[in-house]
Amino acid sequence: MKIIMLGAPGAGKGTQAKKIAEKYQIPHISTGDIFRANIKNGTELGMKAKTFMDQGLLVPDELVCDLVVDRVQQDDCKAGYILDGFPRTIPQAESLDAALAAVGDAVDYAVNVEVPDENIVNRMGGRRACVGCGATYHLVYAPTQKEGICDTCGAELILRDDDKPETVQKRLGVYHEQTQPLIDYYNGKGILREVDGTVAMEDVFQAIIDVLGA
Ligand code: AP5
Ligand code: MG
Repeated sequence: MKIIMLGAPGAGKGTQAKKIAEKYQIPHISTGDIFRANIKNGTELGMKAKTFMDQGLLVPDELVCDLVVDRVQQDDCKAGYILDGFPRTIPQAESLDAALAAVGDAVDYAVNVEVPDENIVNRMGGRRACVGCGATYHLVYAPTQKEGICDTCGAELILRDDDKPETVQKRLGVYHEQTQPLIDYYNGKGILREVDGTVAMEDVFQAIIDVLGA
């Protein structure tokens, strides 16, 4: 199953993508995580991406498309994958579709996790990310066992640079302008599925399983 997660920054794409990947035993491919790993490792790609990410802007399509197209062609993606944070623009969606069509393939579902802007800022301020493994928590909704320490790998938790309130507002603006049009794009292809992202994480997950019909 090839699934795309759509939704505003902080809608819960990463939270749900991780669970779906576990349930269906398919890779979870997050472009945001790929960029953050590159930043941590000081690569050229990471340095380029950081200048955009810190401002709440999208990384240019040319730095993203080839990366994802290469990734989904790897062996572990044969049975499917879940894309989290890609595509984020119409040209990105078109480049993915073209690459898949070239091998007689296509995306199965685009799942849109709907959360209004007013809920987002509150969520992002409480999110904490692990500097070691990238796992995501929330001070209130998904707390760790020991404050400030990752349950999975024991490393320190931080507030992501781009989760500061002014940057979150910027990311929301960019989302509405550049990413929201993908909802119509996938609706037009008949593969859009929508779920309410404001309810508890487990309930969002169940709703996704239901719309995927699996
Ligand atoms: P990326 O890392 O993809 O960030 P994003 O889309 O802004 O989304 P987030 O990761 O912030 O949120 P999420 O939806 O995954 O929510 P989460 O599950 O963490 O991208 C970062 C940057 O990289 C971009 O701004 C851009 O610059 C660049 N980039 C990445 N991909 C790109 C691309 N394709 N093209 C160009 N540039 C690209 O949940 C949020 C919080 O809420 C967590 O704390 C969580 O615990 C909590 N939570 C989740 N669900 C619930 C719930 N149901 N109830 C209560 N709390 C919840
Ligand atoms: Mg995420």
